[in-house]
Amino acid sequence: MELSKIYLENCIETLNRMDGDFVDMTITSPPYDDLRDYNGYHFPVEEIASLLYQKTKPGGVVIWVVGDRTLNGDETLTSFRHAITFQEAGFRVHDTMIYAKNNPIPSDCGKRYRQCFEYIFCFSKGQPKTFNPLMQPIKQEKAFKSFRITKVGRNDLEHDHVAPKERKVNNIFFYNVGTSSSKDKIAFRHPAIFPEQLVSDQISTWTNADDLVYDCFMGSGTTAKMAQHLGRRWFGSEISEEYVDIANERLEQFRDRLEFSAAK
Ligand SMILES: C[S@@+](CC[C@H](N)C(=O)[O-])C[C@H]1O[C@@H](n2cnc3c(N)ncnc32)[C@H](O)[C@@H]1O
Repeated sequence: MELSKIYLENCIETLNRMDGDFVDMTITSPPYDDLRDYNGYHFPVEEIASLLYQKTKPGGVVIWVVGDRTLNGDETLTSFRHAITFQEAGFRVHDTMIYAKNNPIPSDCGKRYRQCFEYIFCFSKGQPKTFNPLMQPIKQEKAFKSFRITKVGRNDLEHDHVAPKERKVNNIFFYNVGTSSSKDKIAFRHPAIFPEQLVSDQISTWTNADDLVYDCFMGSGTTAKMAQHLGRRWFGSEISEEYVDIANERLEQFRDRLEFSAAK
């Protein structure tokens, strides 16, 4: 496979050409529920899940960002159907995270609260081999004596323990959507781009430098940009020529700084 490249084709063709156990991480957002009118649409989720399983290295992960549409007052539950499909394909459902939108697009949701999140599923092939969790500081940071309560009262133990200064963040992630999610104006010619920070956070969590990242629905090229930025190798598939052109133009702006080649 040629890397640093977006293949202009159905991802099934790209996946079929890959060796087995090839990719460290796939991060993608599928074209679910006919939610938007993309230029091309072909989405057999069972076949894609099964191919992704074959092509993911043991310990590798698929990060699958998906939501549900409400049709005639009834949620499609597409997200959960996908999770079950990936589990049946052999993956573990390792973590179900929430991508909460700070500024969701205003819409009349009828007799329900404003819809403001999507799921970020982490499907893993066995136990994930890499986990570099995002950390946050713990505010009250002070040394404390550890002790044991005995029948005769409190017994201080010999060693002082220092309270941890930071902890793993929770699995609800808040991101801006729309024009504040990327500085690349060209990306917004695509109707549904990832927030760059979401992709950056997930790639740095589940991979290390030089690992190989794939996006089977590359759209405007957010995964390519962030993978390159973080020093990961990458490639992708996108069925629409218009979006591949957008992605390549978007990546071209960074060519000098990021030193990569985005070819069609
Ligand atoms: C939700 S968008 C992905 C957007 C992307 N995450 C970004 O940041 O721009 C889904 C994309 O999948 C593409 N697509 C649909 N079916 C495909 C297929 N079978 N193979 C490759 N791409 C496909 C659509 O053209 C669309 O650009």
